[in-house]
Amino acid sequence: MPFTIKVNETLHSVDVDGDTPLLWVLRDLLGMTGTKFGCGMALCGACTVHIDAQPVRSCITTIDSVGTSAITTVEAVGRTPAGQAVQKAWLDLEVVQCGYCQSGQIMSGLALLASKPHPTDSEIDDAMSGNICRCGTYVRIREAIKQAAKSIEQGD
Ligand code: FES
Ligand code: FES
Repeated sequence: MPFTIKVNETLHSVDVDGDTPLLWVLRDLLGMTGTKFGCGMALCGACTVHIDAQPVRSCITTIDSVGTSAITTVEAVGRTPAGQAVQKAWLDLEVVQCGYCQSGQIMSGLALLASKPHPTDSEIDDAMSGNICRCGTYVRIREAIKQAAKSIEQGD
């Protein structure tokens, strides 16, 4: 059946079963492949997007549950000053190794900074604990979140 969803400020009409995961709509129908499939069971965080600014696992979010909420994917991260600060920090600190988990890491990190502008190490670890990195980039992710927090505070 047809659904109209709002992704990165643009409305898209898709015709899929209501129980289709948002992840597959984004990747297969809309061609937004920045959001990754890892486990399909809300265990790894690779598929994290924002819905109404909250981080959610798109692999277990059915399209019929989304309604008119605002979906934001990693493709739109660079549109905001906070997103740009996160992107710069990720590049400056060379966070990425294979890269597979990193769009989910960035979406979770950005959501953390929106709710806690000055997160402590333990708050970062708690917020990011659902995002698995098989390459073990956790220390660099934590430092990048702290750098981004400073940049956002200073308006860089
Ligand atoms: S693919 Fe969604 S949490 Fe792993
Ligand atoms: S950078 Fe390879 S899984 Fe995280």
